[in-house]
Amino acid sequence: MKFSTYSESDRQEIESLFTRTFSDSEGEAEGKLIGNLVHELMNGTKAEDIFGFVATEQGHIVGCIFFTRLSFGCSVNAFMLSPVAVVTGHQGKGVGQALINFGIERLREQDVELIFTYGDPNFYSKVGFKHVPQEVAAAPFKLTYPEGWLGQSLDGSRLETPLGQACCVDAFNDLQYW
Ligand SMILES: CC(C)(COP(=O)(O)OP(=O)(O)OC[C@H]1O[C@@H](n2cnc3c(N)ncnc32)[C@H](O)[C@@H]1OP(=O)(O)O)[C@@H](O)C(=O)NCCC(=O)NCCS
Repeated sequence: MKFSTYSESDRQEIESLFTRTFSDSEGEAEGKLIGNLVHELMNGTKAEDIFGFVATEQGHIVGCIFFTRLSFGCSVNAFMLSPVAVVTGHQGKGVGQALINFGIERLREQDVELIFTYGDPNFYSKVGFKHVPQEVAAAPFKLTYPEGWLGQSLDGSRLETPLGQACCVDAFNDLQYW
């Protein structure tokens, strides 16, 4: 398994990977929704506001993750991990966690200080995320599941000082993702 930064030529393959994987796990409508989200993220986000990483096996992409910028009122360098997908046939073998850990190390090298995500604490706690109260860092939209708002510090500082309200990149500016 090889882990690397995604290239522009991977875009079509990545979009179909997300569409297929989320269709398998959550139904066709969700698959289309997340496929479109990923299309918007890759095509409508400034280069300095997005990181994408892929896991490749025998020339095929089997997993992909994106991190996009979260801006706060203060000057903290923060990104949000979302979405994440590992193709159905490769799930449960550690690919997701290894890919996330690979991405986290690349962001640390780029002096990213904080990362956040919104998802299942049981899964994301395996790669260092912990619950973040809204009073510490308010998610861009009102969350249907506030327990799923998670974060971690990459520079050794504590995620305790209130950061205020987070703003996400354009592609996530839609209530249905929150
Ligand atoms: C979630 C996902 C990325 C995990 O990748 P993976 O390669 O299957 O995960 P790993 O093998 O590294 O880790 C497996 C662990 O995560 C847990 N896990 C896997 N998928 C999970 C999910 N959807 N929710 C919660 N936990 C999950 C498993 O219980 C397992 O725990 P264990 O090792 O204690 O048994 C992958 O299953 C996937 O693409 N699912 C469909 C899309 C999705 O739900 N994406 C996440 C939301 S953006």
